[in-house]
Amino acid sequence: MHIIPIASGKGGVGKSLVAANLAIALAQTGRKVVLVDLDLGGSNLHVIIGQMGSLKGIGTFMTDIDTSFEDIILKTNYENLLFIAGEAEVPGMANLKVTQKKKIITNLLKIDADYLILDLGAGTSLDIMDFFLMSGRGLIVTSPTLTANLNAYLFLKNISFRILNNCFPTKSPGGVFLEKMKKDGHSMQRIYIPKLIEQLDAIDPENCQKYKKTLDNLKPRLILNMMEEPKDAAKASKLRHSSREYLGLDMEHLGVIYRDDVQIKALNSRLPVVKYKPGSVLSQAIFRIADKLIEEEDLDDDVLFSVDLDNTYKEAELEAESDFESRMEYLNELLYTENISVSELIETVKSQQYDISQLKKENVLIKTKLAEAVKKGFVV
Ligand SMILES: Nc1ncnc2c1ncn2[C@@H]1O[C@H](COP(=O)(O)OP(=O)(O)OP(=O)(O)O)[C@@H](O)[C@H]1O
Ligand SMILES: [Mg+2]
Repeated sequence: MHIIPIASGKGGVGKSLVAANLAIALAQTGRKVVLVDLDLGGSNLHVIIGQMGSLKGIGTFMTDIDTSFEDIILKTNYENLLFIAGEAEVPGMANLKVTQKKKIITNLLKIDADYLILDLGAGTSLDIMDFFLMSGRGLIVTSPTLTANLNAYLFLKNISFRILNNCFPTKSPGGVFLEKMKKDGHSMQRIYIPKLIEQLDAIDPENCQKYKKTLDNLKPRLILNMMEEPKDAAKASKLRHSSREYLGLDMEHLGVIYRDDVQIKALNSRLPVVKYKPGSVLSQAIFRIADKLIEEEDLDDDVLFSVDLDNTYKEAELEAESDFESRMEYLNELLYTENISVSELIETVKSQQYDISQLKKENVLIKTKLAEAVKKGFVV
Protein backbone atom coordinates (compact mmCIF):
# COMPACT_ATOMS: atom_id res chain seq x y z
CA MET A 1 0.00 0.00 0.00
CA HIS A 2 1.34 3.43 -0.93
CA ILE A 3 0.79 5.81 1.94
CA ILE A 4 0.61 9.45 0.92
CA PRO A 5 0.26 11.93 3.77
CA ILE A 6 -0.30 15.50 2.59
CA ALA A 7 1.01 18.39 4.70
CA SER A 8 1.94 22.04 4.19
CA GLY A 9 2.80 23.96 7.32
CA LYS A 10 0.66 26.92 6.27
CA GLY A 11 -3.10 26.55 6.06
CA GLY A 12 -5.22 27.14 3.00
CA VAL A 13 -2.62 26.26 0.37
CA GLY A 14 -4.63 23.43 -1.19
CA LYS A 15 -3.88 20.23 0.76
CA SER A 16 -7.51 19.12 0.79
CA LEU A 17 -8.04 20.02 -2.85
CA VAL A 18 -5.01 17.93 -3.82
CA ALA A 19 -5.96 15.06 -1.48
CA ALA A 20 -9.54 14.75 -2.74
CA ASN A 21 -8.85 15.17 -6.43
CA LEU A 22 -5.71 13.05 -6.46
CA ALA A 23 -7.61 10.28 -4.68
CA ILE A 24 -10.35 10.37 -7.33
CA ALA A 25 -7.82 10.53 -10.18
CA LEU A 26 -6.02 7.45 -8.84
CA ALA A 27 -9.29 5.60 -8.18
CA GLN A 28 -10.36 6.25 -11.77
CA THR A 29 -7.40 4.18 -12.98
CA GLY A 30 -8.84 1.16 -11.16
CA ARG A 31 -6.62 1.42 -8.11
CA LYS A 32 -8.24 0.91 -4.75
CA VAL A 33 -7.94 4.16 -2.83
CA VAL A 34 -8.84 5.11 0.73
CA LEU A 35 -8.99 8.85 1.41
CA VAL A 36 -8.71 9.86 5.07
CA ASP A 37 -9.54 13.20 6.64
CA LEU A 38 -6.89 13.52 9.33
CA ASP A 39 -7.36 17.26 9.73
CA LEU A 40 -8.83 16.55 13.14
CA GLY A 41 -10.38 19.72 14.46
CA GLY A 42 -10.86 21.21 10.99
CA SER A 43 -12.26 18.38 8.89
CA ASN A 44 -13.82 19.52 5.62
CA LEU A 45 -12.87 16.85 3.12
CA HIS A 46 -16.40 15.41 3.15
CA VAL A 47 -17.66 18.68 1.67
CA ILE A 48 -15.07 18.62 -1.12
CA ILE A 49 -15.99 15.10 -2.19
CA GLY A 50 -19.70 15.77 -1.73
CA GLN A 51 -20.17 13.25 1.10
CA MET A 52 -23.14 14.77 2.88
CA GLY A 53 -25.29 13.89 5.86
CA SER A 54 -24.11 13.00 9.34
CA LEU A 55 -20.93 11.02 9.02
CA LYS A 56 -19.34 8.51 11.30
CA GLY A 57 -15.68 9.38 11.33
CA ILE A 58 -12.48 9.07 13.34
CA GLY A 59 -14.12 11.12 16.11
CA THR A 60 -16.91 8.54 16.39
CA PHE A 61 -14.42 5.66 16.37
CA MET A 62 -12.43 7.26 19.20
CA THR A 63 -15.41 8.00 21.41
CA ASP A 64 -18.00 5.28 20.74
CA ILE A 65 -16.94 1.77 21.75
CA ASP A 66 -19.67 0.23 19.57
CA THR A 67 -18.13 1.73 16.43
CA SER A 68 -15.41 -0.41 14.86
CA PHE A 69 -12.80 0.93 12.45
CA GLU A 70 -14.49 -0.94 9.58
CA ASP A 71 -17.70 0.95 10.39
CA ILE A 72 -16.10 4.29 9.55
CA ILE A 73 -14.66 3.24 6.18
CA LEU A 74 -17.41 4.66 4.01
CA LYS A 75 -18.41 4.09 0.41
CA THR A 76 -18.38 7.19 -1.81
CA ASN A 77 -20.04 8.22 -5.07
CA TYR A 78 -16.82 7.27 -6.80
CA GLU A 79 -15.81 3.83 -7.91
CA ASN A 80 -12.79 2.35 -6.08
CA LEU A 81 -12.76 5.21 -3.59
CA LEU A 82 -13.48 4.72 0.09
CA PHE A 83 -13.53 7.54 2.61
CA ILE A 84 -12.81 7.98 6.31
CA ALA A 85 -14.23 11.20 7.70
CA GLY A 86 -12.54 13.29 10.37
CA GLU A 87 -13.71 14.28 13.80
CA ALA A 88 -17.39 14.43 12.79
CA GLU A 89 -17.93 17.28 15.22
CA VAL A 90 -16.63 15.32 18.19
CA PRO A 91 -14.77 17.93 20.26
CA GLY A 92 -11.25 17.45 21.61
CA MET A 93 -9.89 15.59 18.60
CA ALA A 94 -7.42 18.34 17.63
CA ASN A 95 -4.98 17.18 20.33
CA LEU A 96 -4.85 13.43 20.47
CA LYS A 97 -3.48 11.42 23.36
CA VAL A 98 -0.49 9.29 22.38
CA THR A 99 -2.57 6.11 22.76
CA GLN A 100 -5.32 7.55 20.53
CA LYS A 101 -2.80 8.46 17.84
CA LYS A 102 -1.25 4.99 17.99
CA LYS A 103 -4.70 3.42 17.69
CA ILE A 104 -5.48 5.47 14.58
CA ILE A 105 -2.12 4.70 12.96
CA THR A 106 -2.35 0.95 13.71
CA ASN A 107 -5.82 0.76 12.18
CA LEU A 108 -4.84 2.79 9.12
CA LEU A 109 -1.90 0.48 8.48
CA LYS A 110 -4.23 -2.54 8.51
CA ILE A 111 -6.27 -1.18 5.60
CA ASP A 112 -6.08 -3.18 2.41
CA ALA A 113 -5.81 -0.73 -0.49
CA ASP A 114 -3.41 0.39 -3.21
CA TYR A 115 -3.30 3.95 -1.94
CA LEU A 116 -3.95 5.49 1.44
CA ILE A 117 -4.21 9.26 1.08
CA LEU A 118 -4.08 11.26 4.29
CA ASP A 119 -5.25 14.87 4.31
CA LEU A 120 -3.50 16.51 7.26
CA GLY A 121 -4.17 19.75 9.09
CA ALA A 122 -2.02 22.87 8.87
CA GLY A 123 0.78 23.46 11.35
CA THR A 124 3.46 21.33 12.97
CA SER A 125 1.76 19.62 15.89
CA LEU A 126 3.23 16.28 16.96
CA ASP A 127 0.10 14.51 15.66
CA ILE A 128 0.51 16.01 12.21
CA MET A 129 4.21 15.20 12.13
CA ASP A 130 3.68 11.60 13.21
CA PHE A 131 0.95 11.08 10.60
CA PHE A 132 3.29 12.61 8.02
CA LEU A 133 6.06 10.23 9.04
CA MET A 134 3.85 7.20 8.37
CA SER A 135 5.59 7.35 4.99
CA GLY A 136 8.96 8.61 3.85
CA ARG A 137 7.35 9.93 0.71
CA GLY A 138 4.73 12.36 1.94
CA LEU A 139 3.62 15.35 -0.10
CA ILE A 140 4.30 18.94 0.87
CA VAL A 141 1.88 21.34 -0.76
CA THR A 142 2.98 24.95 -0.88
CA SER A 143 2.17 28.10 -2.81
CA PRO A 144 4.46 30.77 -4.23
CA THR A 145 4.03 33.21 -1.33
CA LEU A 146 6.91 33.76 1.03
CA THR A 147 4.92 32.79 4.12
CA ALA A 148 3.76 29.51 2.57
CA ASN A 149 7.33 28.64 1.63
CA LEU A 150 8.65 29.64 5.02
CA ASN A 151 6.04 27.50 6.75
CA ALA A 152 6.77 24.57 4.46
CA TYR A 153 10.44 24.91 5.34
CA LEU A 154 9.66 25.14 9.06
CA PHE A 155 7.46 22.06 8.75
CA LEU A 156 10.41 20.15 7.25
CA LYS A 157 12.70 21.52 9.96
CA ASN A 158 10.32 20.30 12.66
CA ILE A 159 10.12 16.93 10.92
CA SER A 160 13.93 16.73 11.00
CA PHE A 161 13.91 17.42 14.74
CA ARG A 162 11.17 14.92 15.33
CA ILE A 163 13.36 12.28 13.67
CA LEU A 164 16.41 13.44 15.65
CA ASN A 165 14.44 13.08 18.88
CA ASN A 166 13.23 9.64 17.86
CA CYS A 167 16.74 8.46 16.96
CA PHE A 168 18.57 9.90 19.98
CA PRO A 169 16.78 8.83 23.17
CA THR A 170 16.91 11.33 26.05
CA LYS A 171 19.62 9.52 28.01
CA SER A 172 21.87 8.68 25.06
CA PRO A 173 24.98 10.85 24.52
CA GLY A 174 23.33 12.41 21.45
CA GLY A 175 20.07 12.96 23.33
CA VAL A 176 21.87 14.77 26.16
CA PHE A 177 23.68 16.93 23.60
CA LEU A 178 20.42 17.83 21.83
CA GLU A 179 18.72 18.65 25.13
CA LYS A 180 21.52 21.04 26.03
CA MET A 181 21.17 22.72 22.65
CA LYS A 182 17.42 23.10 23.09
CA LYS A 183 17.96 24.94 26.36
CA ASP A 184 20.18 27.37 24.51
CA GLY A 185 17.43 28.73 22.22
CA HIS A 186 19.89 30.93 20.38
CA SER A 187 21.90 28.06 18.92
CA MET A 188 18.64 26.37 17.83
CA GLN A 189 17.79 29.42 15.74
CA ARG A 190 21.02 29.09 13.78
CA ILE A 191 20.78 25.37 13.35
CA TYR A 192 22.49 23.75 10.39
CA ILE A 193 21.58 20.08 10.55
CA PRO A 194 24.36 18.58 8.36
CA LYS A 195 26.89 20.22 10.74
CA LEU A 196 24.94 19.03 13.77
CA ILE A 197 25.02 15.48 12.42
CA GLU A 198 28.81 15.66 12.14
CA GLN A 199 28.96 16.59 15.82
CA LEU A 200 26.47 13.88 16.79
CA ASP A 201 28.41 11.32 14.76
CA ALA A 202 31.48 12.03 16.86
CA ILE A 203 29.72 11.63 20.21
CA ASP A 204 27.02 9.04 19.43
CA PRO A 205 27.86 7.13 16.21
CA GLU A 206 25.44 4.28 16.87
CA ASN A 207 22.30 6.41 17.07
CA CYS A 208 23.63 8.64 14.32
CA GLN A 209 23.62 5.63 12.03
CA LYS A 210 19.92 5.19 12.83
CA TYR A 211 19.28 8.82 11.92
CA LYS A 212 21.14 8.53 8.62
CA LYS A 213 19.19 5.40 7.73
CA THR A 214 15.86 7.11 8.44
CA LEU A 215 16.93 10.13 6.43
CA ASP A 216 17.91 7.90 3.50
CA ASN A 217 14.29 6.77 3.32
CA LEU A 218 12.87 10.25 3.64
CA LYS A 219 12.27 11.95 0.32
CA PRO A 220 9.20 14.16 0.61
CA ARG A 221 7.62 15.30 -2.63
CA LEU A 222 6.63 18.83 -3.41
CA ILE A 223 3.58 20.29 -5.12
CA LEU A 224 3.52 24.00 -5.91
CA ASN A 225 -0.12 25.09 -5.96
CA MET A 226 -1.80 28.46 -6.60
CA MET A 227 0.70 29.40 -9.30
CA GLU A 228 -0.02 32.69 -11.07
CA GLU A 229 2.75 32.82 -13.64
CA PRO A 230 5.62 30.67 -14.88
CA LYS A 231 8.29 32.48 -12.89
CA ASP A 232 6.56 31.38 -9.66
CA ALA A 233 8.01 27.93 -10.38
CA ALA A 234 11.39 29.18 -9.11
CA LYS A 235 9.94 29.25 -5.56
CA ALA A 236 10.06 25.46 -5.45
CA SER A 237 13.77 25.45 -6.22
CA LYS A 238 14.36 27.94 -3.42
CA LEU A 239 12.55 25.75 -0.92
CA ARG A 240 14.51 22.73 -2.11
CA HIS A 241 17.76 24.66 -1.82
CA SER A 242 17.09 25.73 1.79
CA SER A 243 16.01 22.31 2.89
CA ARG A 244 19.03 20.66 1.28
CA GLU A 245 21.45 23.24 2.64
CA TYR A 246 20.15 23.59 6.20
CA LEU A 247 18.34 20.33 6.83
CA GLY A 248 20.23 17.92 4.56
CA LEU A 249 16.87 16.91 3.11
CA ASP A 250 16.14 16.65 -0.61
CA MET A 251 12.72 16.69 -2.28
CA GLU A 252 11.30 15.56 -5.57
CA HIS A 253 9.11 18.05 -7.45
CA LEU A 254 5.85 16.37 -8.27
CA GLY A 255 4.34 19.22 -10.24
CA VAL A 256 2.80 22.66 -10.41
CA ILE A 257 -0.86 23.66 -10.23
CA TYR A 258 -2.15 27.08 -11.26
CA ARG A 259 -4.78 28.96 -9.30
CA ASP A 260 -7.93 28.59 -11.31
CA ASP A 261 -11.38 30.05 -10.72
CA VAL A 262 -12.94 26.86 -12.08
CA GLN A 263 -12.36 25.53 -8.54
CA ILE A 264 -14.87 28.01 -7.12
CA LYS A 265 -17.49 26.82 -9.58
CA ALA A 266 -16.65 23.21 -8.79
CA LEU A 267 -17.07 23.86 -5.06
CA ASN A 268 -20.41 25.58 -5.64
CA SER A 269 -21.63 22.62 -7.63
CA ARG A 270 -20.41 20.29 -4.83
CA LEU A 271 -18.21 18.35 -7.23
CA PRO A 272 -14.46 17.80 -7.02
CA VAL A 273 -12.86 19.72 -9.89
CA VAL A 274 -11.55 16.59 -11.67
CA LYS A 275 -15.20 15.54 -12.02
CA TYR A 276 -16.66 18.99 -12.58
CA LYS A 277 -14.30 19.86 -15.40
CA PRO A 278 -11.78 17.11 -16.17
CA GLY A 279 -10.43 19.02 -19.17
CA SER A 280 -9.54 22.18 -17.20
CA VAL A 281 -5.89 23.09 -16.76
CA LEU A 282 -6.35 22.54 -13.00
CA SER A 283 -7.75 19.02 -13.39
CA GLN A 284 -5.12 18.14 -15.96
CA ALA A 285 -2.42 19.19 -13.51
CA ILE A 286 -3.88 16.78 -10.96
CA PHE A 287 -4.04 13.93 -13.50
CA ARG A 288 -0.41 14.65 -14.40
CA ILE A 289 0.57 14.27 -10.73
CA ALA A 290 -1.42 11.02 -10.49
CA ASP A 291 0.43 9.74 -13.57
CA LYS A 292 3.77 10.49 -11.95
CA LEU A 293 2.76 8.58 -8.83
CA ILE A 294 1.69 5.64 -10.95
CA GLU A 295 4.96 5.72 -12.91
CA GLU A 296 6.87 5.45 -9.64
CA GLU A 297 4.75 2.56 -8.36
CA ASP A 298 6.88 -0.24 -9.73
CA LEU A 299 10.27 1.29 -9.04
CA ASP A 300 12.32 -0.28 -6.28
CA ASP A 301 13.28 1.99 -3.42
CA ASP A 302 16.93 1.86 -4.52
CA VAL A 303 16.02 3.19 -7.94
CA LEU A 304 13.50 5.65 -6.55
CA PHE A 305 15.97 7.21 -4.19
CA SER A 306 18.70 7.51 -6.79
CA VAL A 307 16.53 9.31 -9.36
CA ASP A 308 18.03 12.60 -10.51
CA LEU A 309 15.77 15.05 -8.72
CA ASP A 310 17.13 18.04 -10.69
CA ASN A 311 15.15 16.80 -13.65
CA THR A 312 11.89 16.89 -11.71
CA TYR A 313 12.40 20.64 -11.13
CA LYS A 314 13.24 21.27 -14.78
CA GLU A 315 10.16 19.31 -15.81
CA ALA A 316 7.97 21.31 -13.42
CA GLU A 317 9.26 24.57 -14.93
CA LEU A 318 8.30 23.35 -18.41
CA GLU A 319 4.86 22.37 -17.10
CA ALA A 320 4.51 25.86 -15.62
CA GLU A 321 5.18 27.38 -19.07
CA SER A 322 2.83 25.11 -20.98
CA ASP A 323 -0.01 25.34 -18.44
CA PHE A 324 0.29 29.12 -18.54
CA GLU A 325 -0.09 29.06 -22.33
CA SER A 326 -3.13 26.77 -22.07
CA ARG A 327 -4.67 29.15 -19.56
CA MET A 328 -4.13 32.10 -21.86
CA GLU A 329 -5.58 30.19 -24.80
CA TYR A 330 -8.61 29.35 -22.71
CA LEU A 331 -9.08 32.98 -21.69
CA ASN A 332 -8.79 34.09 -25.32
CA GLU A 333 -11.37 31.53 -26.31
CA LEU A 334 -13.74 32.76 -23.62
CA LEU A 335 -13.34 36.36 -24.72
CA TYR A 336 -13.71 35.46 -28.36
CA THR A 337 -16.89 33.49 -27.80
CA GLU A 338 -18.14 36.12 -25.35
CA ASN A 339 -18.65 33.53 -22.67
CA ILE A 340 -17.00 35.91 -20.30
CA SER A 341 -18.63 39.25 -19.66
CA VAL A 342 -16.99 42.60 -19.05
CA SER A 343 -18.32 42.56 -15.47
CA GLU A 344 -16.65 39.17 -14.88
CA LEU A 345 -13.40 40.60 -16.16
CA ILE A 346 -13.76 43.55 -13.80
CA GLU A 347 -14.36 41.12 -10.93
CA THR A 348 -11.21 39.22 -11.85
CA VAL A 349 -9.10 42.38 -11.92
CA LYS A 350 -10.60 43.44 -8.58
CA SER A 351 -9.76 40.12 -6.94
CA GLN A 352 -6.23 40.27 -8.34
CA GLN A 353 -5.81 43.74 -6.89
CA TYR A 354 -6.99 42.44 -3.54
CA ASP A 355 -4.41 39.64 -3.69
CA ILE A 356 -1.68 42.15 -4.53
CA SER A 357 -2.62 44.36 -1.57
CA GLN A 358 -2.59 41.31 0.75
CA LEU A 359 0.87 40.40 -0.51
CA LYS A 360 2.08 43.96 0.09
CA LYS A 361 0.84 43.80 3.69
CA GLU A 362 2.57 40.46 4.14
CA ASN A 363 5.73 41.96 2.71
CA VAL A 364 5.71 44.88 5.17
CA LEU A 365 5.10 42.49 8.07
CA ILE A 366 8.02 40.28 7.10
CA LYS A 367 10.32 43.25 6.62
CA THR A 368 9.44 44.45 10.13
CA LYS A 369 10.12 40.99 11.58
CA LEU A 370 13.38 40.81 9.69
CA ALA A 371 14.48 44.20 10.99
CA GLU A 372 13.67 43.06 14.54
CA ALA A 373 15.61 39.82 14.01
CA VAL A 374 18.65 41.70 12.66
CA LYS A 375 18.52 43.99 15.69
CA LYS A 376 18.50 40.99 18.03
CA GLY A 377 21.39 39.46 16.11
CA PHE A 378 19.48 36.38 14.87
CA VAL A 379 20.27 37.17 11.24
CA VAL A 380 23.75 37.99 9.97
N1 LIG B 1 -5.37 25.74 -7.61
C1 LIG B 1 -6.41 26.33 -7.03
N2 LIG B 1 -7.19 27.20 -7.72
C2 LIG B 1 -8.25 27.82 -7.13
N3 LIG B 1 -8.62 27.64 -5.86
C3 LIG B 1 -7.88 26.80 -5.12
C4 LIG B 1 -6.76 26.10 -5.64
N4 LIG B 1 -6.23 25.33 -4.65
C5 LIG B 1 -7.01 25.54 -3.56
N5 LIG B 1 -7.99 26.42 -3.83
C6 LIG B 1 -9.00 26.92 -2.90
O1 LIG B 1 -8.31 27.50 -1.80
C7 LIG B 1 -8.97 27.22 -0.58
C8 LIG B 1 -8.04 26.43 0.33
O2 LIG B 1 -7.82 25.15 -0.24
P1 LIG B 1 -7.82 23.84 0.65
O3 LIG B 1 -8.97 23.82 1.57
O4 LIG B 1 -7.62 22.67 -0.24
O5 LIG B 1 -6.49 24.14 1.47
P2 LIG B 1 -5.93 23.38 2.74
O6 LIG B 1 -4.43 23.48 2.64
O7 LIG B 1 -6.51 22.04 2.85
O8 LIG B 1 -6.47 24.31 3.92
P3 LIG B 1 -6.53 23.97 5.48
O9 LIG B 1 -5.11 24.14 5.97
O10 LIG B 1 -7.43 25.02 6.03
O11 LIG B 1 -7.02 22.58 5.62
C9 LIG B 1 -10.22 26.44 -0.94
O12 LIG B 1 -11.29 27.32 -1.06
C10 LIG B 1 -9.87 25.84 -2.31
O13 LIG B 1 -11.02 25.61 -3.09
MG1 LIG C 1 -7.61 21.13 4.38
